[in-house]
Amino acid sequence: MHRELTKGVYFVGVDDNHTELFENLWDIPFGVSYNSYLIVDEKIAVIEGVKGPWADEWLDNIRELVDPSKIDYIILNHMEPDHTGSLPDIAKIAPNAKLVYTQKASAMQKSFFDLDLDEIIAEDLQELSLGSKTLQFVHAKFLHWPETMMTYIKEDEILFSCDAFGAFGALNGLHFDDEINMEIIEWEAKRYVCTIITAYFKFVQAGIKKVKDLGIGIKMIAPSHGPIYRKDPMWIVNKYDEWSGPELEKVCTIVYGSMYGFTFRVAMNLKKELEKLDVTVKMFNISYTGLSRVITETVRAGVIVLGTPTYDAFPFPKIWNFANEIQGKRYPPRPIGILGTYGWQGGGVEKITKQLADARYEILEPIVHVKGRPTEEQSAQCKSLAKVIAERLK
Ligand code: FEO
Repeated sequence: MHRELTKGVYFVGVDDNHTELFENLWDIPFGVSYNSYLIVDEKIAVIEGVKGPWADEWLDNIRELVDPSKIDYIILNHMEPDHTGSLPDIAKIAPNAKLVYTQKASAMQKSFFDLDLDEIIAEDLQELSLGSKTLQFVHAKFLHWPETMMTYIKEDEILFSCDAFGAFGALNGLHFDDEINMEIIEWEAKRYVCTIITAYFKFVQAGIKKVKDLGIGIKMIAPSHGPIYRKDPMWIVNKYDEWSGPELEKVCTIVYGSMYGFTFRVAMNLKKELEKLDVTVKMFNISYTGLSRVITETVRAGVIVLGTPTYDAFPFPKIWNFANEIQGKRYPPRPIGILGTYGWQGGGVEKITKQLADARYEILEPIVHVKGRPTEEQSAQCKSLAKVIAERLK
């Protein structure tokens, strides 16, 4: 099914209500959309494809409006296969279409698909006339890969922003911000940003600045996932700005694993001591809170505390995985507290401490390390750690 954005510009994307894990990693209880747009002018252009298994539905959406074999340009803002998996299908139908993308995207296309189509390398700010409408390409590297660009229709003032300003959540026939429950969108957009784009926050900031500095009018933002913003396009820009900005929240988020409750008791002890000092605390059991939520709740936390039992002389596997995400997603610098328990020899706290210290995170003292059940001594350590955290969050 297609939707009109404005005269000659149409949504022809698809919903994915089948995939449980985006990138086979991140839970998407509301699904996800792969947005594609068709511009019908003297020339016909399609912006973005969709994930491979949805190619037929996508082509059917295009067929509602034009014969796909008449497409002149396939504009690829980004080469990740959630947007390009359908390229081989359209390449068979539209052999005269030209691929329009950045130089880096061209190299990726040859590596991923090696399609037998002509191409146009879009330089930064280069324009392409479709007749009455003019496209302008705005390079936006690392939003979310190095080859990424955005596409702008000058006359209609619509910015096709690719992954930037996207959100999880299938659209289910409600394509615009004035049609959708924005509370769900806000959480799903934030969860999308934190899980997919945290490592590239500085490029989000650079991309927002670049678009603002261009001084272009923006009547609509049409990303490649989630709703199209026509009622208030700057809402999502401002949210992305806030979520990717350098300011951390004055909150301590404790994320712990616990097999039999000892580490939980230490974490609870710390939580109570922090609350006595009026520190806002969030606490999550890693075994029962999806990693996407844990990441979303910690990316901007002023202090993170990790709690781990020792498991086979290593950190509790799910906590270790989270520590890897802190490192891999290049969480902005902030102090990290560590607590943990062990039965006879230890290893979990030591290894996670070393890993995060080697990744140049400041590890707060004291580290609360408990053999067996928590004792008075460890309660005193929790009190000391709470004081240090409260001081750092002032
Ligand atoms: Fe939606 Fe980075 O692909």
